Order: sequence, then structure tokens, then C-alpha cells
Amino acid sequence: MKSFESLSLRYQDNKLQILNQKFLPHKEEWVEIFHPKDMIHCIKELKVRGAPLIGVSASLSLAQFLSQGALENEFKEQAFALRNSRPTAVNLMVCIDQLLDYETFQPEALIEKAFRLFEEDVALCDAISHHGAQFIEDGDSVLTHCNTGGLATVGSGTALGVIAKAYKQGKKIHVYVDETRPLLQGGRLTTYELEKLGIPYTLICDNMAASLMAQGKISKAITGSDRIALNGDFANKIGTYNVAVLCHYHKIPFYVAAPYTTVDFDCKSGASIPIEERQPNEVRGVTTHKGETIWSPVNSCVYNPSFDVTPAELVDRWILDTGAYTKEDIQNNILTGLKHK
Ligand code: MRU
Repeated sequence: MKSFESLSLRYQDNKLQILNQKFLPHKEEWVEIFHPKDMIHCIKELKVRGAPLIGVSASLSLAQFLSQGALENEFKEQAFALRNSRPTAVNLMVCIDQLLDYETFQPEALIEKAFRLFEEDVALCDAISHHGAQFIEDGDSVLTHCNTGGLATVGSGTALGVIAKAYKQGKKIHVYVDETRPLLQGGRLTTYELEKLGIPYTLICDNMAASLMAQGKISKAITGSDRIALNGDFANKIGTYNVAVLCHYHKIPFYVAAPYTTVDFDCKSGASIPIEERQPNEVRGVTTHKGETIWSPVNSCVYNPSFDVTPAELVDRWILDTGAYTKEDIQNNILTGLKHK
């Protein structure tokens, strides 16, 4: 297998490794993947996370399995298990389905296909940032939610890629980072990436955004997505819908950025997007590199949906690798047309 490297996924010296995102930013621990079962574990545990990244990582762990001599039935069994490892991000299914879509089982060709998925994701991120950077102006203060950069993709990212591109163009921007309870992808990962990129930011608790908007401190909001329905509704990290509602009330433009691999061509509206529910302890407390702290009564009844659905009416632009689309474009079924791209 060829070598490759991204911020959190690499194959070097015959070793497939992921950067354990659970312990960032305070501990950079690379975990070796020996078998697709290890990747399944890492995906479920969110050591590997972010919609595009889990699709590419799952595909490359299958490529590694093939390079170790996996038989067709073994390959298929692991492919289906990976496909089911998280339910909401459709990129995982899109990538695995591309590997399962063959007439004759040819391991070398499948390994090459998986590698192309890695390269494609890098190119998709570049195209998204190219189309999106025009919406970020000099002087903007941009709110973002969750983590959507190089830790969520194998390229420069989706929403964070757009922000980074605008910054590289010389625009003076400030990023407000929602901490993103319960797993703190904003507070731990987006801050880590912004530090590396040298982009000025301020970390806020999720419940502070409304107050900042009322004070005129936020001029745009941009997030990524885990699944976009054909009518433009989209799923993203829990709390994204709150941001969109707040933007609507305060008349602040709200953008979503994603590659075409996030569009579910079988999904007509957000009502059909499956929403992952996770373990109660994620809400009862927090787990860091130092261990778990539970602050609520240990048996508190908990509801922990990992994603929510933002209705299309709250979105100002869908920034994809193919272009930036308006509500009118979406109503004219532009997303359906992308299927044959
Ligand atoms: O549960 P996670 O951390 O995998 O959720 C990630 C998100 O919600 C991201 O915003 C989304 O995958 C888009 S990333 C390019």
C-alpha cells in the first residue's frame, strides 16, 4: 500500500495509524490499526471522527485488510461492519459502497480505489474552500460549531477550511468557537486547529452565542454537515440547529459547507436522517486524557442525541465542492443533479 499522511490519519512504514482525537489537545497519541475491527472501535469511540474522515479512514482500513490477504467474504463482512459503525454521517456509507460496488473481486483495484478516496477528499476540501471563502469578508467575526477542519477530513476541512482560506487571502477575521457539548469538539479540536493555523479565536460556551449576536459581535456563522437531504435540510453536530435559529432571529447569514459525499441522494428531507444517540455518561460528565468526571447524580436520566437537523429555510448558502448554492438552487433540485457528477 502507498504511504499517505493527513493531520490525523497516516500510513507509513507499513503502519496504519490514527491520531486519538479523544485526548486532544493535551495528548497527541497515535493508535495503530491492525484490523478493520480496530478501526470500528476507534470510530465508535470517536477517536476518529468527522464525517469525511470516518469514510476515508474506514476505506483505508479495508485497503490494509486486503493488502494482508483478506478473502472476499472476510472483506465484505468487515465492510458491512464498518458501514454500520456510526449511523448519521452518510460519507461513511458512500465511501464503503464505492468499495463494495465491483463486478469481480480484485484486491489491488480496491486498494487503489481506497487510496483515491483519500486523494479525492483533499481535493474536495480545496474546492469547498475555494467556493466558500468569498462569503467571509475582511473584518468578519465568524461563529462555528463542532470541528470541521483537518481533524474531520484528510484535507483542509469543510467549514473550517473556508475560514482558513479566507484568512490566507489576507482577510482579518476572528473566529468564535462554540465549545460543542457534550464531547467538546469545538473546545478541544477546533481551538487546537486554529492555534496551528494562527487564526485568532475566542472560545465560548454554546449558550453564549445568542448574547454575542445581540451585542453585534458575530457577523456570520458557518458549520459542516454529516448528511444533507435533497431538500437542503441537513444533520450536523447537536447544537447546530440552535445556531441556525439564532442567526435567523438576529439576521446573520448562516452557511453550511460540505463535500458531495455528504449529500444523501436517497433522502428527501431531514425527517428521514437517522440520528445517533450516544452513552449517557457523555452528558453526565466529561472524559479527558486524565479520566472521567461525573458531575450529575450517577444514574441521572439522560437524552444524548449526537446530531440535530437544521431545516433548509434557515440556511443562506450550501457551500459544496461544486459551487455555493442558494435556496432557489436547492428548490430547483440542484442537489439531485450532483448524483451524476
Ligand atoms: O460526532 P462527530 O465529532 O463525528 O461530529 C462531527 C460533526 O458534526 C462535523 O461538524 C461534521 O462531521 C462535518 S465535518 C467536516
